[in-house]
Amino acid sequence: MLASLSHHLRHRLLIPSISSLPTLPFLFLHLNHTLPLLFLHLNHTLTLPLPLPMDESSLRRSLADKQSAVDAQGNAVRALKAAKASKSDVDSAIDSLNALKLEKASIERSLQAIVGGAGDGMSVSREAFRQTVGNTLERRLFYIPSFKIYRGVAGLYDYGPPGCAVKSNVLAFWRQHFVLEENMLEVDCPCVTPEVVLKASGHVDKFTDLMVKDVKTGTCYRADHLLKDFCNEKLQKDLTLTLEKAAELKHVLATLDDLSTDQLGAKIKEYGIVAPETKNGLSDPYPFNLMFQTSIGPSGLLPGYMRPETAQGIFVNFKDLYYYNGNKLPFAAAQIGQAFRNEISPRQGLLRVREFTLAEIEHFVDPEDKSHPKFIEVASLEFFMFPREQQMSGQSAQKLRLGDAVSKGTVNNETLGYFIGRVYLFLTSLGIDADRLRFRQHLANEMAHYAADCWDAEIECSYGWIECVGIADRSAYDLKAHSEKSKVDLVAHEKFSEPREVEKLVITPNKKELGMTFKGNQKAVVESLEAMNEEEALKMKAALEAKGEDEFYVCVLGKSVTIKDSMIKISKKKIVEHQRVFTPSVIEPSFGIGRIIYCLFEHSFYTRPSKAGDEQLNVFRFPPVVAPIKCTVFPLIQKPEYESVARLISKSLTAAGVSHRIDMTGTTIGKRYARTDELGVPFAITVDSQADVTIRERDSKDQVRVKIEEAASVIKEVVDGQRTWADVWSTFPHHATASADDE
Ligand code: ATP
Ligand code: GLY
Repeated sequence: MLASLSHHLRHRLLIPSISSLPTLPFLFLHLNHTLPLLFLHLNHTLTLPLPLPMDESSLRRSLADKQSAVDAQGNAVRALKAAKASKSDVDSAIDSLNALKLEKASIERSLQAIVGGAGDGMSVSREAFRQTVGNTLERRLFYIPSFKIYRGVAGLYDYGPPGCAVKSNVLAFWRQHFVLEENMLEVDCPCVTPEVVLKASGHVDKFTDLMVKDVKTGTCYRADHLLKDFCNEKLQKDLTLTLEKAAELKHVLATLDDLSTDQLGAKIKEYGIVAPETKNGLSDPYPFNLMFQTSIGPSGLLPGYMRPETAQGIFVNFKDLYYYNGNKLPFAAAQIGQAFRNEISPRQGLLRVREFTLAEIEHFVDPEDKSHPKFIEVASLEFFMFPREQQMSGQSAQKLRLGDAVSKGTVNNETLGYFIGRVYLFLTSLGIDADRLRFRQHLANEMAHYAADCWDAEIECSYGWIECVGIADRSAYDLKAHSEKSKVDLVAHEKFSEPREVEKLVITPNKKELGMTFKGNQKAVVESLEAMNEEEALKMKAALEAKGEDEFYVCVLGKSVTIKDSMIKISKKKIVEHQRVFTPSVIEPSFGIGRIIYCLFEHSFYTRPSKAGDEQLNVFRFPPVVAPIKCTVFPLIQKPEYESVARLISKSLTAAGVSHRIDMTGTTIGKRYARTDELGVPFAITVDSQADVTIRERDSKDQVRVKIEEAASVIKEVVDGQRTWADVWSTFPHHATASADDE
C-alpha cells in the first residue's frame, strides 16, 4: 500500500511507487549511455541481420571501455581536488584524463571510418548525422511536418508515401509476429473515450507532467526535463565539480521520478535554473494533465478525452473477450491505434509527438501460474539486458541468456520473459541493430506499487537511449480498477473437478466507524477494502496487528487513507468451493510504432561514395519486410522493346503481390539506382535485352542475369524470405557491371 503519492506521473504506470529503497544510495547512477553513441552501420542483409564485422564490434567495445575509463578518471580528478591534493598531482591526473579523451576520439574516428559516412576519417557528430538522415527523410517524403504550409505545429507529423508504406509494413509484420503467432484477439476501439473510463484507470487524476513557465514570455517547459538537462550538463562538462556535488547531481537524476512538486520546485530554485532560451526566471512547477479534453455530443454534458493509450479499450472489454475465448486463460488481446498526449514541449522530433500509433497487447494470465508453454522457444536467445542491480552499481548492460535471466529470477516470470524474447526477435527482424538494443529493467522507484516487474526495450539513436517498447507485468490493477468503478465483475473462473473445502479469508469492514471517519468517501473505502485479494488482506492484517493501523490506497479516490484496527475484521473461515474466482494478471507489451520506425531509419541509414568519388550517396538498408517498395523496374535505355518487357515484368510483379515501381525516365542507370537506394528499395530489375534481365541487390550492388519469365518469381521468393540473396547469387550467372553503369 502506498506510503505517499507523488504528483508526477509520466509513465503509463499510473500510480507511482513506494520504493522499497526510499532513498537510493549515492554513487550508482549513471542510468543511460553505457554503450557508446554510434551511428552508421552496415550490418544488415536482406533477410536477417548479420553479426557485425569483427573489427567493428571490437571497436564498439573498446569505445565503451574507453568511455568508462574517461568517467573513472574524471572521478579521480574530482577526488584529488576534494582531498586538496597537490597541484602537480591534480595536473597530472588531468593530463591522464585528456590523454584518455584523445584515445577515445581516435577510436571514434576509426569506427566512423569503417562504418561509412565519413570515409575521410573525420568525426561525424550525432547532430550532423541526425541532420543528414532527417534531411533525406524529409526530402524523400518519408515524413512531413504536419500543416507545413501554415508553418506546422510542434509534435505533429505526417507520413508521406514511403513513410506510410514503411509504417504499414511494420504493422503488418507486427500482426504476423504477435497476433497471428499467438492467436491474439484483435480489437479496434474508439479514440474518443468517456471520462468515467479514464477516471477509473487513474488517468484523469494522475496522467500529468510537472510544468514550469517562463515568467515573462509564458513559454512552457517540462520541469523534470530542465532539471535533468541541468544535471547532465554539469556532470559532463564541469570538471571542477566536487565529488559530493557530482554524487548529489547523480542522485537527483536517479530519483527524478520520485520528486514531489515542491521538491522539484526547490531544486530548480536551488540550482538557479532559468528558461533555456531567454534566461528569464521560471514559475513554480504545477501538474499539467497530458490528455486532450473534449466533450461527447452537442450538449457538452458528457466529458471525454482522446485516449492516451489503447489499453483501456481492451480492459473494459475483458468480460466479452474472455467469453469469446471459451472462458479460458491465458489469452491475449491486441489493439493498434492512435494515442494522443498533449506533450508539454516536444523536443525530440519524431520521438516525442502529440499523436502517435500504439500497438498494445494485453496478455491475461492466472496470477498463480505465469509459466509459458512456448518460453523454451526463446530461452536460448542472448541479448543485452540491463537489470536493476547493474544500473544501481554503475555497470553497463550485459549480454544475458534469456533462459538464465528467468531461472535466476532477474526477470520475474516466464510469460514476461517470453514477451521480452519475442520483442527482441520482432525488433531485430525489422532491422534494429542488436548491439544498440537493450532491455532495461525499471528501478524500484520507477515501478508502480502493483507492478510485479517492468522492462523497457530501449534503442540507441542519435538522441540517446530511447524507450520504444514497455513490457510490464501490471498484475491485476487495471481489471480491478474497472471492476470497482463499473460494478461489473472482470474476473476469471477455474472450475474444480471435485468440490474443495478451503480456508477462506473473510473481510468485514466496520461500516459505521468507516462512515464516521471517511464520511462521503465511506462507500469507496468499503468497496476497495472488500475488493482486496488474499495477499493484500493478509498484509493488512499483519500491519494492523503490528502497528494498529495501515495505509491503504483507494483507486477511485486516487489517494491513500489510514485504516485503523477497529475499522476492519480480517479472519479465516472454512467453506466448500466449486470453483476459484480470481482477477487475472495482465502482462502488457506496449509498442510506440513511430519511435521504432524512427530508430529503424537511423539504424538503416548509411552513405557510400559515388563511383566518381565526388559525392556521398544515401542508402537505407531496409530488409525487404520493411522496404517501402520491394523492387524497381528500369529499361536500361528508352527503347520500345525494352519498355514493353518492363511492363510485362511489372504485370507479373503485380500478380505476385510485390510492390514495385517502373522508372522509364531517360536518366542514367546509375542515377536511377542511387534514387532507389535512397528509398531503401532492395532490388532493381534492369531490362537490357529481350531475353534476359539483370537483378541488382542494393547493398552489395551485385547483379545476376535472369530470364524474363523468371524475374518476378525470383524477386517474390527473396522478398518473402523463401530464398536468400546468397542463394540467388550462387544460382544465376553473374552480370559484370560496366564501370559507368552504377553510381
Ligand atoms: P516517455 O517517458 O518516453 O514519455 P512513457 O513511459 O510515458 O514514455 P508509455 O506510457 O509506457 O510511455 O507508452 C508506451 C509507449 O508509447 C512508449 O514505449 C513509447 O514508445 C510510446 N510513446 C509514449 N509517449 C510517446 C510520444 N509522446 N510520442 C511517441 N511515442 C510515445
Ligand atoms: N543491369 C545493368 C546495369 O546496371 O548495369
